[in-house]
Amino acid sequence: MQKRETWGSRTGFIMAAVGSAIGLGNIWRFPYMVYENGGGAFLIPYFVAMLAAGMPFMILEFGLGQKFKGSAPKVFSSISKKWEWLGWWQVMVSFIITTYYVVVVAWAINYFLLAFNQGWTASPKDFFFGEFLGLTDSPMNMGGVQTSILYATAAAWLMTFVAVFTGVKSGIERISKIFMPLLFLLVFIFIGRGLMLPGAVDGLEWLFKPDFNAIMDGKVWADAFGQIFYSLSIGFAIMISYSSYLSKDSDINNNACMTVFINCGFSIISGIMIFSVLGYMAHQQGVPVSEVAGSGVGLAFITLPTAINLMPAPAFFGTLFFLALTVAGLSSMISLAEVVVSALIDKINVSRKVAATVFCGLGFVVSIAFTTGGGLLLLDIVDHFINNFGILMGGFIEIIFVAWFCKLDDLRNHVNLTSEIKVGSLWMNSLRFVIPAMLGFMLVSNFIGDLS
Ligand code: PHE
Ligand code: NA
Repeated sequence: MQKRETWGSRTGFIMAAVGSAIGLGNIWRFPYMVYENGGGAFLIPYFVAMLAAGMPFMILEFGLGQKFKGSAPKVFSSISKKWEWLGWWQVMVSFIITTYYVVVVAWAINYFLLAFNQGWTASPKDFFFGEFLGLTDSPMNMGGVQTSILYATAAAWLMTFVAVFTGVKSGIERISKIFMPLLFLLVFIFIGRGLMLPGAVDGLEWLFKPDFNAIMDGKVWADAFGQIFYSLSIGFAIMISYSSYLSKDSDINNNACMTVFINCGFSIISGIMIFSVLGYMAHQQGVPVSEVAGSGVGLAFITLPTAINLMPAPAFFGTLFFLALTVAGLSSMISLAEVVVSALIDKINVSRKVAATVFCGLGFVVSIAFTTGGGLLLLDIVDHFINNFGILMGGFIEIIFVAWFCKLDDLRNHVNLTSEIKVGSLWMNSLRFVIPAMLGFMLVSNFIGDLS
């Protein structure tokens, strides 16, 4: 057996972890969540969730990966042979996510190209559903593959493939060290010019105007915790795989803090970017911001193009935004791919090159289903179940297993060994009580929501 690869530098590891954490969720999910859940007041539950759940969970996953030096199945089976399946569950979930996440990245690539001459036309909504997606209302009636989406999907798979094929240090780390600074740069340039547009500052007022009643609402707290888990890519093996390549002397606790702070800081910055655009758009159209605010696919591929059409220098703003979306998405995609690749390497002892080739080839074939006219509908259905049950369930079982049925004291000693800041009983209590309670609550309420 070959010696396990390691990251080239501490910065390289943090850039890769941040690359996974910062994704579409920061850009199209977080801003609207703030707006909808009490504005500035939402930051209270959000930061509580970050400190009480995000940080401890990140430290846990970094510690697990580094201590047991393996992908999730190997980590869980090292703790107890009977628990290997939990790792495979997470690997399977990651695999499924790659097959459609890549297609959203592909749309971002397509829209980056369209942005040069606003190829999304004067009515971006009709364009998106019609010409672009070729939407049909039934996934059974696939309506054929959309060729431009297919090409962009192939391109996104190719870049993912190059990253995981060339390895941790010369692939993933090198790309992350370019992508993350680039991403911040793109967004800062966008904001720098965007905030000068009329109405932009009003947008920020809409975003941050605090409504303190919101923090009395249980749903707001559940949203804050949910966003933290999803945003930090914790509870589904990603951070375990990445930290399995850390060297013995890495400062786990510090790395975890850095990753969490940079991700959450970027979320706030994205909120400013998105709401400055929405404020400008509302100003131009003479409507309140509430008329244009939204999230998800609609925000990125309909509202933003509509706003960009109204801007001075639309090609400038359009290319910046969609390049940022592409970079944010691709780096998360790469982390998902590494979950699968590292698990294959550990389990069946194939080389990284073989594992990457087989996985990316198969993944590409499956993802073709999402490039068809029924793709968006199919994507919504799969994403719903994966998010609500695949990820939550995996994370819930993981935390129960590790916090209650393993020697958590040993793990605490392990993470403290090389860390400057030590964790103690607060950390253990978060893992044993706070996180299981919140994940359990979310699982149950999603389940009830689905039944009714
Ligand atoms: N952390 C990503 C985000 O906030 C979401 C994600 C999670 C992406 C896990 C890939 C894997 O957008
Ligand atoms: Na994130």
